[in-house]
Amino acid sequence: MWSTALVLASGLASPALAAKLIASHFSGPVYTLDLTLANATSGTLKIASQVDNGCGRIPAWLTVDKATNSVYCFDESWYGSGVLAQFAADDQAVLAPKAQAPTLGNSVFGALYGGDDDKGFVVTADSPSTITTYKLPLSASSKPRPEALLHHAQAGPPAGPPGQAAPARGLPGPDQAVHGRARPGRGRDAHLQDQQGHRRADGLPHRGFAVGRRPRHGEFLETKGGLRYYSLNEVASSVGMYNVTYAGEGGCLTLDLVQTLSTFGDRKGQTTEKAAELRIAGDFLYASNRNDQKFGKELDSLAIFKLDTAGEGTMSFMELTNSHGFFPRPFEINKAGDLVAIGGQTTANVAIVARDAATGKLGPLVANINLPPRGTYMGEDGLSAVLWYE
Ligand SMILES: *[C@@H]1O[C@H](CO)[C@@H](O)[C@H](O)[C@H]1NC(C)=O
Ligand SMILES: *[C@@H]1O[C@H](CO)[C@@H](O)[C@H](O)[C@H]1NC(C)=O
Repeated sequence: MWSTALVLASGLASPALAAKLIASHFSGPVYTLDLTLANATSGTLKIASQVDNGCGRIPAWLTVDKATNSVYCFDESWYGSGVLAQFAADDQAVLAPKAQAPTLGNSVFGALYGGDDDKGFVVTADSPSTITTYKLPLSASSKPRPEALLHHAQAGPPAGPPGQAAPARGLPGPDQAVHGRARPGRGRDAHLQDQQGHRRADGLPHRGFAVGRRPRHGEFLETKGGLRYYSLNEVASSVGMYNVTYAGEGGCLTLDLVQTLSTFGDRKGQTTEKAAELRIAGDFLYASNRNDQKFGKELDSLAIFKLDTAGEGTMSFMELTNSHGFFPRPFEINKAGDLVAIGGQTTANVAIVARDAATGKLGPLVANINLPPRGTYMGEDGLSAVLWYE
């Protein structure tokens, strides 16, 4: 592990700084990328290796599990079947296919959850609107766990706007339930919420999500005021902050909406614009906006919010910043908190941007790589995911 900040602060001649990233492209390849930094604000990004047919036909999402040198990849194949793929990474993060489980296809997201270390199972969110879980390790004979299949095509309250009710194929983004990321100890609950008060996969009811926003991703955070959940709402292009309470150990999760803010700051998103990803680092929350072209042709924005973590966890909008790509579907902040990898879906690029951990601000652009072919406007093609391998 290296830290740019430490090296610079030490005043010593900096060694060549390097990091690895994994990226997937909807057209099939999964890449290992090498980031080499000349200094904190300038570097190069190169393809170190790639696997062309390891994640089915439409690789859509990735999960890195560095502790087991594994990368999981989720195939959105809509040809009636798909795969859930596991790659083994060597010490240079070169990937080799390790295991595959068959799926029904249409997987648009996935993550590890459950077990003593939150890694007993993998959950996939499938379009249209299904959540499916598989026991690890994966194999050709892996089966969806029947007790954990969650269908909610019979959508709940009817009050949602157009595009809210499942199923909804053909939209630029996947139609999916909310995907709270694992929280140590409670990761199992975190993944299995949907947006309209449907039942959790383990049969326990839960409640709390506001209808009509289509939550897409989310994160839990412990604040002074208590546990909070931050939701990225795709259709509404907003972020929501919820109080989180559990009815006892292993009990039902309740989310109470406290605050909602637009990801466009002082205006609402238009119907052609959709928020995509949410990440929290330190006291800051970041959300990506697709198709606002705020920073020029094919240059969409990321919104930055300050979180009152020393209080109730409420959000305040700071500013919009350049994502350096078009349709920034995925982005992730590195562990050191000083760099952000942003995937432009339609531009099929990965941009590395500097981050000031103290102020939360992003920029300048440190490195960029294009991974052709480009996607088509509003198409489900181009770059699908990018993560730090660390
Ligand atoms: C960082 O490295 C680049 C490329 O070598 C160089 O052009 C730039 O001046 C350097 N910046 C700083 C602050 O040292
Ligand atoms: C959220 O929790 C705080 C206490 O931390 C409380 O003051 C507030 O009323 C709660 N809001 C909702 C909507 O439950």
